[in-house]
Amino acid sequence: MILNAEFEQQLSCRLGAERRNPDPCTLVIFGASGDLTARKLVPALYHLYREKQMPAAFRIIGMARREKSNEAWRLELRQALQQYSRTSDLTDGDWETFARNISYCHGDLTDPASYDLLRRTIESADSEPLRRNLLFYLATMPSQFAQSAERLHASGLLHKGHSPAGGWQRIVIEKPFGQDLESARQLNRELTSFADEDQIFRIDHYLGKETVQNILMFRFSNSIFERLWNRDSVEHVQITVSESMGVGGRGGYYEEAGALRDMVQNHLLQVLSLIAMEPPVSLDAEAIRDEKVKLLRSIHPFTPDDVARNVVRGQYFAGTVNGDSRPGYRQEPKVKPDSNVETYVALKLFIDNWRWSGVPFYLRTGKNLPLSASEIRVQFRPTPYVLFAAQCGQRLDANSITLRLQPNEGITLRFNGKVPGTSVEVRPVRMHFGYDSEFGAYTPEAYERLLLEAMAGDPTLFIRRDEVETAWELVDSIRAGWDGKALTNREFYAAGTWGPVAADEMLAAAGQHWREPVPLKPG
Ligand code: BG6
Repeated sequence: MILNAEFEQQLSCRLGAERRNPDPCTLVIFGASGDLTARKLVPALYHLYREKQMPAAFRIIGMARREKSNEAWRLELRQALQQYSRTSDLTDGDWETFARNISYCHGDLTDPASYDLLRRTIESADSEPLRRNLLFYLATMPSQFAQSAERLHASGLLHKGHSPAGGWQRIVIEKPFGQDLESARQLNRELTSFADEDQIFRIDHYLGKETVQNILMFRFSNSIFERLWNRDSVEHVQITVSESMGVGGRGGYYEEAGALRDMVQNHLLQVLSLIAMEPPVSLDAEAIRDEKVKLLRSIHPFTPDDVARNVVRGQYFAGTVNGDSRPGYRQEPKVKPDSNVETYVALKLFIDNWRWSGVPFYLRTGKNLPLSASEIRVQFRPTPYVLFAAQCGQRLDANSITLRLQPNEGITLRFNGKVPGTSVEVRPVRMHFGYDSEFGAYTPEAYERLLLEAMAGDPTLFIRRDEVETAWELVDSIRAGWDGKALTNREFYAAGTWGPVAADEMLAAAGQHWREPVPLKPG
């Protein structure tokens, strides 16, 4: 039976109370001249406004060192919106009314006088909630996070806990959150002396992606998949976040970070925790985050020997990606000519719990790979070696489920079927659910959801203190295994290839191979 659209609508179930718009508030963006503000934050706020999801009253105040007027900043933002908006039907009328809420405050984050000016600007609002409900978005250099929080606190703008004057104050922090466990702990100590943990919203923009949020729905609202989700049925899991771009203009930052800190510590481990965690006791923020932390804590620790065997790092040299020639990493601007920073990491890890014991999880990420794709492939155990498997051998592929996080967002189930005809031929076929065909083109940007949640005060999609520290612990143990050693020849890969051969060898040693993301054929 085919369900008709109306019947399917009746089966849809909205969770929790109908969302109301967040309270009226003022959003202050530190680092207002930066790329993130123009590319992501303001377009996201603008789209929320158009979707009528912004609070009934709001102000956006940008603060940065460059001197400029309100008009000049609004014009810059309008031009950036034109370039980066996810929609093309921008109307000047909408922008004009939205932009009336935007103002610029010239200031230096290190200078207490700038915070006085900011306070006066905030106090100039004509409504009480706009003066008391304050969201400070720190889109600044990480070295300025703690100092900004301290100055905000000293100027009376950020109260720890309940503010005596009423209202709420929160801070949103961009990654990187520390450089290692010690610096993350230090930052946590500093921030929590000026704000309570529930006022601190640590961003990992992967958690704002629809497809990442869908992991929990997919797993826990479908009995047919969840009962396969364990060591009895799953042979191994591959998580790939590949990018076809190199580091481009971010060489300076990347020299400090590298792929392990830039991608694995946050995005990959977040995706891993969602795909592997136990069901939470409720949909509460803390219940979900408790399970995520528990999962991260169950990852088998890496000894230096494990790192040598189960972690592959790489760095790209010059090559071509889709016909486009790319310089090597060492030739990128602001990169040392003898840099040993990794632009690729692949690793094999085990989770020491009842559900996953003995199941390898392979994670990989890299820059200048052949295509940009993020996906999770759950590879099931092969059929017993009788009947078809005995006849077809390796060619009879095992079943798999691929969650495509981006692009071609969707889920693909792969299984074997008989090729029509008089001979007995079996080959893999695919069943695909695509977001576009099922739900239409409307997919909000990650930052829209995250900004909305931060204004509403819901921390579910943000990283808790213990989560960030546990992830650093793991990353630090891998770095300790590298022990400052220089890259060897085997660790380089040409731009436009799938990484160093050592990554293929790691899987081959277990009788496996990487499943490369395949661009979906239309239709
Ligand atoms: C960022 C990293 O956090 O994520 C970048 O700093 C990376 O290096 C980006 O390119 C990838 O995000 P997305 O959403 O494009 O997959």
